[in-house]
Amino acid sequence: MSRTAILSALTEEQHGLLALLQRPQKISHAGRDFWLGELLGKPVVLALSRIGKVAAATTAAALIEQFGVARIVFTGVAGGLAPGVQVGDVVVASGFVQHDMDASPIFPRYELPLYGRSLIACDAALTALLFEAAEAYLARTGVGFNVSSSVPVQRVHHGLIVSGDRFVSAAGESAALRSALQSAGHEALAVEMEGAAVAQVCLDYGVPFAAVRTISDRADDQAHGDFALFVQTVAGRYTDHIVHGFLDK
Ligand code: ADE
Repeated sequence: MSRTAILSALTEEQHGLLALLQRPQKISHAGRDFWLGELLGKPVVLALSRIGKVAAATTAAALIEQFGVARIVFTGVAGGLAPGVQVGDVVVASGFVQHDMDASPIFPRYELPLYGRSLIACDAALTALLFEAAEAYLARTGVGFNVSSSVPVQRVHHGLIVSGDRFVSAAGESAALRSALQSAGHEALAVEMEGAAVAQVCLDYGVPFAAVRTISDRADDQAHGDFALFVQTVAGRYTDHIVHGFLDK
């Protein structure tokens, strides 16, 4: 059966799934640990990219070239950009834009040079399954149910996530980012640092890709503290439930 890659940036986002992995086998490659095994009887490989677009692209290429994965699912946390996207919400990506790509005036702002596009859409079928799994998790736990003492799961959103090599940690920066993207026709729900790079590698190789991110902070002046607290307390728990539900489908 074809193998699914489940990719995260941080150990905290992965450890719940790693604990559930059946017949685990660790393989070190390209300076990373890849965990082969089964979840719900399905072959998977769990990988940690570390942070940033280059690290994520290297990991995605290794998953495809070395491990022959049939699909890649990214799971982790993100900063909320759109007003309704709050800490504890879940965003299932419809597609990705690199918010720090700017080869203007040679190419339009955000356009990937020589790709003729700035937005890379996620695989529709995988995305629909992830969305269903996220909604089912929400329905099971219920709005306001505390998965930690302080952070309830609130809403599942579906829309654009933007990525760049920058932790967005000021309200002014977050507003400027959102409005610059809007001027180019992109309504961004959340920001993180890896997804668009994985999307680009998957586009190049023709491998289906989907991503789910839990909102750890609002990319504002409190982002640093909120992010650290969220990652230490709840990030991995969302991952277990949503990815598990996804694999069950
Ligand atoms: N991942 C989680 N929060 C983020 C933020 N504020 N900026 C970039 N990546 C993030």
